[in-house]
Amino acid sequence: ASSFTSAMNLDQQGVSFIPQRYVLPPSQRPNIIHHHDEHVLPLPIIDLSNFHDQSRRYQIINEIRNACKEFGFFQVINHGIDESAINEALKAAEEFFNLPHDEKMCLFSDDVHKPVRYGTSLNHARDEVFCWRDFIKHYSHPLPDWIHLWPSNPPSYRKNMGNYAEAVQGLQNKLMEMIFESLGLNPSYLEEEVNGGSQLLAVNCYPACPEPELTLGIHPHSDYGSITVLLQTRSGLEFKNKNNNWEAVPLVEGGLVVQLGDQMEVLSNGVYKSVIHRATVNVDKKRFSIVSLHSFAMDKKIGPAKELVDDNHHQLPKCYNEFSFREFLQFISNNDITKERFLDTLKIMK
Ligand code: SIN
Ligand code: FE2
Repeated sequence: ASSFTSAMNLDQQGVSFIPQRYVLPPSQRPNIIHHHDEHVLPLPIIDLSNFHDQSRRYQIINEIRNACKEFGFFQVINHGIDESAINEALKAAEEFFNLPHDEKMCLFSDDVHKPVRYGTSLNHARDEVFCWRDFIKHYSHPLPDWIHLWPSNPPSYRKNMGNYAEAVQGLQNKLMEMIFESLGLNPSYLEEEVNGGSQLLAVNCYPACPEPELTLGIHPHSDYGSITVLLQTRSGLEFKNKNNNWEAVPLVEGGLVVQLGDQMEVLSNGVYKSVIHRATVNVDKKRFSIVSLHSFAMDKKIGPAKELVDDNHHQLPKCYNEFSFREFLQFISNNDITKERFLDTLKIMK
């Protein structure tokens, strides 16, 4: 790790080309020309205001159901998280990544089980091609269990990132209730596993890149958890649409992106899908994202909800085997998830 140079480091050195270690094989490079699928609907933007109001809630749940079936991805506005909480978290992120390289390296680790870690790729020892990003990842829920392990510099980091983490955790719980309801389940379905679950905050900085057409900020993957809430400061996030084309997630002022993860695909027995996504980088400006990944409790085996399976009548056969978050972590320490998808190992072929 001592010879490790981060993308941020390279940007600060003002390199005019990217090192070979970041260059993707031609077939995996981002397409500069974006396909616009004329027959594909735009990604939904769901307004969450007044969701306590019963008739409004019913409407929102319908919109969520349609978005989850069609895309597995949507954006939300009027989500209740203060603009100031968002701006302060982004400021803390920016100040953290501006720290001297050596100071950040004290938190560097390749061990995916580490509760707090700084790095560039998922696994520096194993990944063939690095990602053009710097990240700091830390567990965040329940906050008092983890916050003392977070970076102590910049001095405002814990307070500001902690505020955002708690706010987004609250939003995630509300969204999860509505997603369960949209599946015809009780809104408090698996309440204990939701509240006793984990929240991982991945704070990403994608420096300006002299050759953005050769590399990616993060390689294609799906998220492992239940749902993810993502905040981006510029566009760059892309997802694979139904026609298998990459489509950009437009930047929505004050909006947050909601993505379904593998646990939700399994729980819904495939009615909802977890979506493959990636992040592109750009030549002129840094981009930040703060990604909150919720997962059910570490050792809880998540399988298709029994309400959504009817093996006797063969109309709704069970399509996935159970898995726990711990098993997923085991899988990613041994495999390259950009090459092999964990979800595929759970599918039941009939
Ligand atoms: C991620 O998928 O974890 C990050 C994507 C992004 O930063 O837009
Ligand atoms: Fe992701």
